Amino acid sequence: MVRHSAFYLAAAASLCLGFAAAEDVVVVSGPKEFDALLKDNSFVVAEFFAPWCGHCKKLAPEYEKAAGPLKKNNPPVTLASIDATEEANKPLAEKYGVQGFPTLKIFKGGDASAPTDYNGPREADGIVSYLQKQSGPASVELTSKADVPAFVQKEVAVLGVFADAKSTEFKTFSAAADAARDEYDFGHVFDSSFLDGEAEPQAAPSILMFKQYDAPMLKYQGKLTDKAAIMEWLSSKSLPSLVELDQKPRNRAALQKIFSSPTPKLLGFAGKDDSNLAEFKKALTDVPTTGAALQVVFIETGGNAQALQYFGIEAKDTPAFVIHDQNNNAKYISFNTKPSKLPGFVSDYEAGKLEKHVKTEAPPKKNNGPVKVVTGTTFEDIVLAKGQNTMIEFYAPWCGHCKTLAPIYEEVGEFFQKNKTVTIAKMDATANDVPDGRFQVKGFPTLMFVDSKGEIKPYEGERTKDGLVEFIEANSVGASSSAASKEEL
Ligand SMILES: *[C@@H]1O[C@H](CO)[C@@H](O)[C@H](O)[C@H]1NC(C)=O
Repeated sequence: MVRHSAFYLAAAASLCLGFAAAEDVVVVSGPKEFDALLKDNSFVVAEFFAPWCGHCKKLAPEYEKAAGPLKKNNPPVTLASIDATEEANKPLAEKYGVQGFPTLKIFKGGDASAPTDYNGPREADGIVSYLQKQSGPASVELTSKADVPAFVQKEVAVLGVFADAKSTEFKTFSAAADAARDEYDFGHVFDSSFLDGEAEPQAAPSILMFKQYDAPMLKYQGKLTDKAAIMEWLSSKSLPSLVELDQKPRNRAALQKIFSSPTPKLLGFAGKDDSNLAEFKKALTDVPTTGAALQVVFIETGGNAQALQYFGIEAKDTPAFVIHDQNNNAKYISFNTKPSKLPGFVSDYEAGKLEKHVKTEAPPKKNNGPVKVVTGTTFEDIVLAKGQNTMIEFYAPWCGHCKTLAPIYEEVGEFFQKNKTVTIAKMDATANDVPDGRFQVKGFPTLMFVDSKGEIKPYEGERTKDGLVEFIEANSVGASSSAASKEEL
């Protein structure tokens, strides 16, 4: 094996950089070496790294440790590392769209054109077991009738029924299984009689999905030689009809999508002992939300204290429906509600008839300190007061940077205390809603300034007294100064 000598040279070079010694990990230099590696090894994991990258240094010893057992795995798994900053490797990093470090890609069957991403663990044992699973067949052959009942008990079990392993249908199924093996369990039988008792008799070829929720068994009706169609069917049919806020695999992907989307949400809060829980969930599942473009999530109050707190809902207020339009900082809540009220709630929302719910603390009785306290209900009166230049800090009681800022902010308040046109204010944004969508609080503390004409500017300068005072003086619009600027015109 001639190429190894080149690898050893590269390995020695990487030692000089202080990178882990490559004994079992193959160090690659340049596209030619890489192609040769793929040609000789049917399962290769390539790590693209940069010598200065901290996460890469942390991964290196684990990767090295995993390489030994994986080399001996059946089939063998080869771990390779590629220094993406090396001139010779730049074409490889570019070809595979490497954006950050480390990036790990899996190459199967010598195919250099379509690697998949490695999304597994980063410590040795985890790497080994993840890749062992990846390197085995994506779909397990069930060889007797007795194998079937246990298999269909998985959260989502996808079962193919085929006459033999030579058919295009089986090959397509295997390819789909390979691509989606992280998400579902795949199995197949070559004898359809194995299914007796678990499903209606199914003629080969066919693909069935068994779920632990919703419709227990579904049959794929599309073309069995169309991998993309099978994948599409898998991802759409495995979605639960009602997404719930919990850790179950069935909800995870859906929640991720929902929470990262700007579409308003319809949330149903109920306790698991609520007498009409089933009806409540059914109402959420069936309500037409397409006109209103709402994404629906059910939230069981017992395990989701944070969600309750975020919306300012107490368990005694539930069951409750919430529509949350985060683009407009708008929440609409139907407290102590009934399943039958949901369609009306949604249609009132569509018609713009609902009143915004503003979570608020009680405003303080005395509020004449240097920093004025703002609550959900007093926000407009204080922060948007006509003719006032107002700096508002949105803070969280637990936030360290906010605590550091507090005495400095107090001094800024004292500096402007006698000035009738400047207000320094603060709001606990965990206990109060900001009722105006123009103020988006994405982190703590958030500082925003509203001048007397109502123009809003974020404050992103240094959090020092001088920085704040200077900014306020430079951006305040006063009756006198605007008069002065008019004269200048
Ligand atoms: C109040 O502050 C503004 C902005 O810094 C300034 O223009 C104005 O002169 C001050 N007024 C008084 C009375 O100090």
